[in-house]
Amino acid sequence: MAQRPLIAGNWKMNGRRADAGWADAFASAGPAPEAAEVALCPPFPLLALMGDSLAAAGVALGAQDCSAEAEGAFTGEVSADLLADLGCRYVIVGHSERRRRHSESDGLVRRKAEAALAAGLVPIICVGETAEARDAGHAEAVVAEQVARSRPSGGGFAVAYEPVWAIGAGRAAGPRDASAMHAHIRHALGAEAAGVRVLYGGSVTPDIAPDMLAAQGVDGLLVGGASLDPDALWRIAQAAG
Ligand code: PGA
Repeated sequence: MAQRPLIAGNWKMNGRRADAGWADAFASAGPAPEAAEVALCPPFPLLALMGDSLAAAGVALGAQDCSAEAEGAFTGEVSADLLADLGCRYVIVGHSERRRRHSESDGLVRRKAEAALAAGLVPIICVGETAEARDAGHAEAVVAEQVARSRPSGGGFAVAYEPVWAIGAGRAAGPRDASAMHAHIRHALGAEAAGVRVLYGGSVTPDIAPDMLAAQGVDGLLVGGASLDPDALWRIAQAAG
């Protein structure tokens, strides 16, 4: 894979204005990690506040969701176009917390990804099986179906494999299991999506990052809880090289 691995932090519903100094702390953790591209996805209201300092620290800006609609009467939604206008490069779509809590279907996730692409953003499309699906031996089938139904045609996007049972659980998938699922995802994507990065997410810490990034087919990481700590995300990014 020719592209640098992508290390993306997902703050979820955490952070206040006082945390906007994260970028400065990241920059003082050490020299900018060169082997990886780093992105941070804070909550919407912090995007405008953090964009410049993140750029100065060499960290790309990302959002956690976008509307499937371009603009108009959609109260509470945020358009991909506004995210691009604010300087975002990435947007997470279809995170399992949104699929579950907001009943987001694969079809809606695909439309969000298409809206992101139309605005010039790189959507990070999340997929992943529940513990029940894994225990029943259906993990690969569930993930393949999510990929097939949530992806736009062509490329230009990234996929994050986030097994639901590993998110916020303190128990990540093993690198071998992640590798196997990533190969399966790449197969499901087909030749059309050759340049697509497939990230792993779920309880990533600086301790497991080196093994995970060394695993075959793991093109980066989507980091939740650990990304709140600038030093931890810096160490995770350092593990790429
Ligand atoms: P976690 O979250 O790293 O806190 O497990 C990952 C995610 O949900 O993106």
